[in-house]
Amino acid sequence: MIFTGKTFWITGAASGMGRTVAIELAKQNVKLILSDRDLVGLEKVALEIETMGSTVRIEQLDMMDTPSIFTTAKKVISDGEKIAGLYQFAGISQRSLVSETPIDNDRRIMEVNFFGAVALAKAILPHIIENGGGQFAGTSSLVGKFGFPYRSAYSSSKHALHGFFESLLAENAKFNIKVSMLIPGRVQTNISRFAITKEGKEHGEMDPGQTNGITAEKAAKLIIRGLKKEKKEIWVGGSEMLMLHIRRFIPRLYYYMARRIKPM
Ligand SMILES: NC(=O)c1ccc[n+]([C@@H]2O[C@H](COP(=O)([O-])OP(=O)(O)OC[C@H]3O[C@@H](n4cnc5c(N)ncnc54)[C@H](OP(=O)(O)O)[C@@H]3O)[C@@H](O)[C@H]2O)c1
Repeated sequence: MIFTGKTFWITGAASGMGRTVAIELAKQNVKLILSDRDLVGLEKVALEIETMGSTVRIEQLDMMDTPSIFTTAKKVISDGEKIAGLYQFAGISQRSLVSETPIDNDRRIMEVNFFGAVALAKAILPHIIENGGGQFAGTSSLVGKFGFPYRSAYSSSKHALHGFFESLLAENAKFNIKVSMLIPGRVQTNISRFAITKEGKEHGEMDPGQTNGITAEKAAKLIIRGLKKEKKEIWVGGSEMLMLHIRRFIPRLYYYMARRIKPM
């Protein structure tokens, strides 16, 4: 993917990896459309990017609100934006056991992480095809590749993203559509703070996994490098990524470890 001079839409752009990827992309002289539900956070990122000399358009978007996702996409397209890439980072995590998680929490996590991303991708796909093709990035997780304690709904939502985006690619590769799945391991962001507990409240803590993870800035560099190479999967993390090999090549060891690893 050649970035220069093109327009990219990034969700979850007010914080974490969405923010750092936006900043990293801005160095390539692009136009950015930034979305998040957090308008104040978006305005801060936009200001930071504008001072770097790039153009930014803000679209506040709640990924749980499907009708507004379609309306916003329609408005952006009818304003004449020519989107070359949709990179979706908006997401919420979970900290509760299967046995204690009310089904409404499962639905909420699926709404944001899966249906929100699906809705926006569907809303933009015909436009990107019409413009001669472009790139989609969906943000999965290590636990989008295997199950993990305290993450049943989160892990499910990330697994589902793989099915959706792989199918989207299979159907549309002939239209010059590229898809990259991002697989972050542990990255220093607020993801664990805003994770949902069994009561549906915020977990409120930065877990050791995140504290000891790579920085969001380093993650952004890995992501941009992978997107540039149009890699189908982009691994974003440190030694924890070894779990992908263990799950694939020594599944019995994974099952043994999954029962014992400290969940947070
Ligand atoms: N950090 C990790 O270790 C890690 C590991 C694996 C996968 N991931 C994935 O990476 C992606 C980015 O997360 P991050 O780590 O950068 O964490 P983050 O800083 O919490 O970023 C997530 C962003 O999504 C936004 N968001 C949440 N719910 C939303 C909604 N309903 N509508 C619109 N925006 C919403 C958040 O907005 P608010 O600020 O308003 O909450 C936040 O800006 C997520 O999909 C996450 O699952 C992260």
